[in-house]
Amino acid sequence: MGDILHTPYRLGGIELQNHLVMSPMTRNRAIGNIPNDLMVAYYGQRASAGLIVTEGTSPSPNGLGYPRIPGIFSEAQTQAWAPIADAVHAGGAKIFMQLMHTGRIGHALNLPAGARVLAPSAVAAAGEMYTDAEGPQPHPVPTAMSAADIEDAKQEYVQAARNAIAAGFDGIELHAANGYLLEQFIRPNTNLRTDAYGGAIENRARFVLEVAAATCDAIGRDRVGIRLSPFGVFNDMPLYDAMEADYAYLTEKLDALGLMYLHIVDHSSMGAPVVPDGMKATMRRLFRRTLILSGGYDAARAEQDLAAGKGDLIAVGRPFLANPDLPARWKASAPLNEADFDTFYTPGEKGYTDYPAR
Ligand SMILES: Cc1cc2nc3c(=O)[nH]c(=O)nc-3n(C[C@H](O)[C@H](O)[C@H](O)COP(=O)(O)O)c2cc1C
Repeated sequence: MGDILHTPYRLGGIELQNHLVMSPMTRNRAIGNIPNDLMVAYYGQRASAGLIVTEGTSPSPNGLGYPRIPGIFSEAQTQAWAPIADAVHAGGAKIFMQLMHTGRIGHALNLPAGARVLAPSAVAAAGEMYTDAEGPQPHPVPTAMSAADIEDAKQEYVQAARNAIAAGFDGIELHAANGYLLEQFIRPNTNLRTDAYGGAIENRARFVLEVAAATCDAIGRDRVGIRLSPFGVFNDMPLYDAMEADYAYLTEKLDALGLMYLHIVDHSSMGAPVVPDGMKATMRRLFRRTLILSGGYDAARAEQDLAAGKGDLIAVGRPFLANPDLPARWKASAPLNEADFDTFYTPGEKGYTDYPAR
């Protein structure tokens, strides 16, 4: 087996120390929606990655749908993120912040005063949202965004991208996957709009493409990536007939904007539908800059897919969560710590900063 994984990679203007990306993972340790010392330690421990993509971080008070997730819209949040970028850089990795606006996946009990559960259309998600105040609650019917709400949200993404750069981050990843706001615009089950943002895919793609263009304008296209989940069903997003065509269209348009990378989600190892090889190959062909693959990777499959040219970088979630020194373990074919599901989303250091390195 060759060794592409552990060699450097040029990502636009920055050099990654290897081809391994830490996947974005929400960990719900940001009490008051502000990063803290515990988070500095957690990210710093994992700085042997090539690139770290942070947990989903909200560009808006309206996007804080889950309890204890961080934001990047206030001055206090921006300042609190800076030591995380520093700790990661000190360890040798680069770091992009994932911008996640939860849209309809939220609850008033999780939001700050005055914030709203917004979505393209007033369609509630099936299922429940956990709240610290009152436990699990049915997903609310979101407020359909007005034209002014759409413009405001776009500006929030732009300001958040600027804030991330001000905090010392190398770039941002737009979370347009897994059923959150950007994907809610893309998919026909959550977007019933009759204006320029709804209907045909040219319209359903408009919001995400405008956000992508505006953030590229603000901080530079080499600093903007995007995550998409074709065939993803998480957060009540059913499959539909035109899905492959829609994602091919989106990919072409994102390529034209010149974003730094496209990051494909595949949750088949978590029981979600398989993302067909043909879909991934289409996206590989249509997107000419960096392609990141993710989902269920071990070292052997990562090396194999890199060698076959299926993608340029491999992102890893749960193994990185449980193994702060994952690159070294993979290199040494050493045994791995198991991830403990029960502490994925609980506050405190248990199951967060206490996984041992070798
Ligand atoms: C605890 C946890 C939190 C996650 N949070 C996010 C998130 O904030 N944003 C995102 O795009 N994906 C999120 N994911 C999905 C992961 O990025 C990744 O796609 C998934 O874990 C599959 O990769 P793996 O098999 O390497 O774990 C999360 C996954 C886990 C396990």
